[in-house]
Amino acid sequence: MVEKLFRERPPGADSTILDPGCGPGAFVAGVIKWCQRHDRAIPSMLGVDSNPVHTAYSRQRFAEYASVDVTACDFLSSTFRTFDYVIGNPPYVSITSLSDVERSRYRRTYETASGRFDLYLLFFEQSLRLLKPNGRLVFITPEKYLYVETASPLRRLLSRRGVEELHFLSEETFEGLVTYPLVTTVDGGASASGTCVIERSGGRRLIRPLVNQTSWMPFIREASQKSSVVRLEDVALRISCGVATGADSVFLLRTAALTPDLAPFAHPTIAGREISSTELPSSEWSLLLPYDADGRLLPESKLGGLGDRLRDPARREVLLGRYCVGSKPWYSFHETPPLKDILRPKVLCKDIGAKPLFVVDHEGAIVPRHSVYYIVPAQPERIDELAEYLNSDAAANWLRDHCQRAANGFLRLQSHVLKKLPLPPSLESLASQLEFDVAGLGRRSA
Ligand SMILES: C[S@@+](CC[C@H](N)C(=O)[O-])C[C@H]1O[C@@H](n2cnc3c(N)ncnc32)[C@H](O)[C@@H]1O
Repeated sequence: MVEKLFRERPPGADSTILDPGCGPGAFVAGVIKWCQRHDRAIPSMLGVDSNPVHTAYSRQRFAEYASVDVTACDFLSSTFRTFDYVIGNPPYVSITSLSDVERSRYRRTYETASGRFDLYLLFFEQSLRLLKPNGRLVFITPEKYLYVETASPLRRLLSRRGVEELHFLSEETFEGLVTYPLVTTVDGGASASGTCVIERSGGRRLIRPLVNQTSWMPFIREASQKSSVVRLEDVALRISCGVATGADSVFLLRTAALTPDLAPFAHPTIAGREISSTELPSSEWSLLLPYDADGRLLPESKLGGLGDRLRDPARREVLLGRYCVGSKPWYSFHETPPLKDILRPKVLCKDIGAKPLFVVDHEGAIVPRHSVYYIVPAQPERIDELAEYLNSDAAANWLRDHCQRAANGFLRLQSHVLKKLPLPPSLESLASQLEFDVAGLGRRSA
């Protein structure tokens, strides 16, 4: 794992390395050994572990190395600086071993704390946050995160950063402790042309970058097949229905009527009926969002002018009358808007129409309403090419053959159908090169 960490990018004396959940310091020792073997200065290293017995031992073990620091704290609840490298063997602790307080604390602060989560998912998320943009991370975990539904937020985060390598290890690695271990190397720069898969049998293949959030196993398994159709979902970070507030009348306001105290919460928005050509309509309405740019619900005390507006008795009654919000705070939306994905360059289309029409939001400023679908391409610089194809006769014919019909014969688009839209060969490279030989022999198929 240390070799993977420093492959073609050795550390300098001023590099910084994090080992979250360092235990007795196996990786710290590994890095020191590597540096000694390669005659390099030992970089600055931080080991973090919540178990004071481990940290006391590690501190003593590395006492002679001034650049090694070991801290006893909860890695998931502490703040740190950013690092050039992260290497780790995070704890595999299922949700069932956590207290109610821990569960709800983690759910509040971690995207990956969804469903029946495991702590290693959260360690991944926190470590990705702490990794510098050009940094590299190497983690050993169960391979399960590649396909379980619970790990789909992690797959989304990883696909944004870029997975350089997936190395499936022999099942005996941990003598029965972890089934199906996997070493994941994350490196945005190195993964641009694909992910290297090293199988348990030792075989190596380069597969196209892992972009969507559904199970990655089909990509990994099918990569050896000669060619596969590239579909819209393969080139998109997200294909979803727009924001459902459960009370549009309360959260919508004409942009011209915005007051300065509401402006910080306002985002331009469009509804499906406003899309009537392939040109982006100019938005005259704003959606007031009680969420921050990361999609987290703001506390009521931070709502300012929006809070005053929502507390107006008539509006508050509408909000409280929404059955859909259930146990969430009274001013939250029906569904939490994934703003990190929404506020990006994207293609928009209305949910029902005589023919599908796609428009481009180049700036990524628009928050689409529930009657609009949005497609966030993994390569925004080629968004116009993608939109041109989506508006072509070929795409329209395929959608006509696969979409449901509304009562008046109009097409009813749905995200699960949009995701399966096949792309022409000219757009296959949006999912990057399909299949390469790792040895550098170039494109083999398709
Ligand atoms: C799988 S062990 C790995 C130990 C070491 N990295 C190795 O490979 O030998 C996971 C470590 O994470 C630590 N740990 C568990 N929960 C933690 C938390 N919330 N914050 C920091 N460390 C934690 C455990 O004490 C344990 O030492």
